[in-house]
Amino acid sequence: MGRIAYVNGRYVRHADAAVHIEDRGFQFADGVYEVWAVFGGRLADAPGHFARLKRSLGELRIVPPMSEAALTVVLMEVLRRNAVRDGLIYLQVNRGVAPRDHPFPDPPVPPSLVITAKRVDLAASDARAARGVGVVCVPENRWGRCDIKTVGLLPNVLAKQAAKEAGAVEAWFVDDLGLVTEGGSSNAWIVDADGVLRTRGIQANILRGVTRNSLLGLISDAGLKLDERPFTVAEAKGAREAFITGAGSLVLPVVRIDGANVGDGAPGPVAKRLRALYMSLARGNAA
Ligand code: PDD
Repeated sequence: MGRIAYVNGRYVRHADAAVHIEDRGFQFADGVYEVWAVFGGRLADAPGHFARLKRSLGELRIVPPMSEAALTVVLMEVLRRNAVRDGLIYLQVNRGVAPRDHPFPDPPVPPSLVITAKRVDLAASDARAARGVGVVCVPENRWGRCDIKTVGLLPNVLAKQAAKEAGAVEAWFVDDLGLVTEGGSSNAWIVDADGVLRTRGIQANILRGVTRNSLLGLISDAGLKLDERPFTVAEAKGAREAFITGAGSLVLPVVRIDGANVGDGAPGPVAKRLRALYMSLARGNAA
């Protein structure tokens, strides 16, 4: 069965799926996106992702293309047509199609909506988590509204390419004070030298990760110590454990930072436990 995408009201062959050359997402990165993990054909952490989509659209004054209920129907139909049980679903809303001019089209044009889905091999994902991954640190060079999930991701693309060329899978952005902000497509965490979980607070210029938010609940339920406070690269290198969270990475242990081992270079007990807890939560809350 071939892959199917949803584009502006139609289910089309993935190979033929296209938007107009004057789509503002294409010309200006004038659009937002969301990514849900999918377990058993259902959306993990669905309400959190819908809420963030609504917020991202609102911040950019892009009109929602349809109601959340209607969007859910389309998302589920894309999963069904692609026979995705475990995987990822990607949704992008652009401001729409108009002759190229920087200000918003006036009168407004209908937003563009694109949805694609792909399967993820959960066994391979688990095997990667069991090995752990490397990250590299890069200077923070993004704009001041990283809380909006926009498709303007060039710094993230360059950072993640640098990571790949260094044999790592994620890049951690580091601000002028030497503090880690977040990953190129994930939030960053450590278990510090005192055994306290640390991750940057969402008042900072980072994406308010939905996976991150779910983990906060799990951490509190498990009675683990948490301090929502940024950490330096040096603290991360001297930490007991490190890991990243996101719809793609779920909870993924980090065992190397800039080539140096974290702890003994193997995934630590807290990250492993939180991954297991998150997987069962996400499977359970998938809607
Ligand atoms: N990225 N920070 C950034 C910069 C991200 O792009 C993401 C997600 C996260 C984690 O957010 P969440 O837990 O809500 O997925 C943090 C998605 C998966 C992506 O770009 O593919």
